Amino acid sequence: MNMTLRQLTLFKAVAEQLSFTRAAAQLCLTQPAVSIQIKQLEEHAGMPLFEQIGKRIFLTDAGREMYRTCQDMFSIIERLEMTLNELQGTIKGQLKLSVVTTATYFIPHLISTFRRTYPEVNIRLDVTNRTNVLKRLANNEDDLVIMGQVPEKLNVQAHPFLENPLVVIAPPQHKLVGQKKIPLSELSQELFLVREVGSGTRLAMERCFKENHLELKTGMELGSSEAIKQGVNAGLGLSVLSKHTLALELATGTLSLLDVEGFPLLRHWYVVNLKEKKMSLVAQTFLEFLLSRTEETLQKVFQTFHAAGKQLNAPSKSPKKFSSRRLN
Ligand code: PGA
Repeated sequence: MNMTLRQLTLFKAVAEQLSFTRAAAQLCLTQPAVSIQIKQLEEHAGMPLFEQIGKRIFLTDAGREMYRTCQDMFSIIERLEMTLNELQGTIKGQLKLSVVTTATYFIPHLISTFRRTYPEVNIRLDVTNRTNVLKRLANNEDDLVIMGQVPEKLNVQAHPFLENPLVVIAPPQHKLVGQKKIPLSELSQELFLVREVGSGTRLAMERCFKENHLELKTGMELGSSEAIKQGVNAGLGLSVLSKHTLALELATGTLSLLDVEGFPLLRHWYVVNLKEKKMSLVAQTFLEFLLSRTEETLQKVFQTFHAAGKQLNAPSKSPKKFSSRRLN
């Protein structure tokens, strides 16, 4: 068979997107250019790799087989590239990282510091909720994943690298703000905003109420921590979020923490990889960076937020006077 690596790259993109248009956009090509190459690949294979039903395309049996082989081939090629880099003693190449949504509040700062030392490492970051991260991990799609709870059913290696306190938040004018040691039972009278099903934060929150034999009265379901914060600020309910998502709101006073018995729920952030996966030098270097440099890097970031919040809240010494003079 005379198929080329280029054709297989295009095929893999179409198979993952299940769309010629999206695959072409992803690879910065035109859709006809992709279609021609796939057609040639199908001629080499001697049978169709995709079938169209209505407006959607699907992989045929042969397409699925081709996709499985592509995945193996590309991961062997990636490993070869890594090994060649390692032999040259340079830390460069790709790092495939996927993180749960909540980790986006700190991971870009860590990546930025890491890349200052290792500019030739190219990081592909996927952000999704816990359930999807688990799927990606099981399918061996990433070098490392970052999550708030170690998966129980997979054979993984997990290193805690940062504390992850989950706190109860309320709008600043809420009646419980300022009260000390609020019993959790008192919160079962309150409406809670929750993240989408599949979120690790939601899971931890539900588990906490369940373990205490209390009912969690759920109000609206919102698909991101940002939406939850806006919802709580608007008085739609209380919520539980990782304190890492709240640096700006706590610094500026737009949200308040409640002093609830049993809170903060003390969890950790873990960097996780499949035990059987041979870790590349790049992945190993990033892992060591997370374990040794996270605290110091984030401390600086959160101090900046804090200082910015203080400045915003400080009464201005010379209030700006706006003239009522008419402009003509
Ligand atoms: P989430 O995960 O972003 O899916 O809520 C956070 C966590 O597991 O702590």
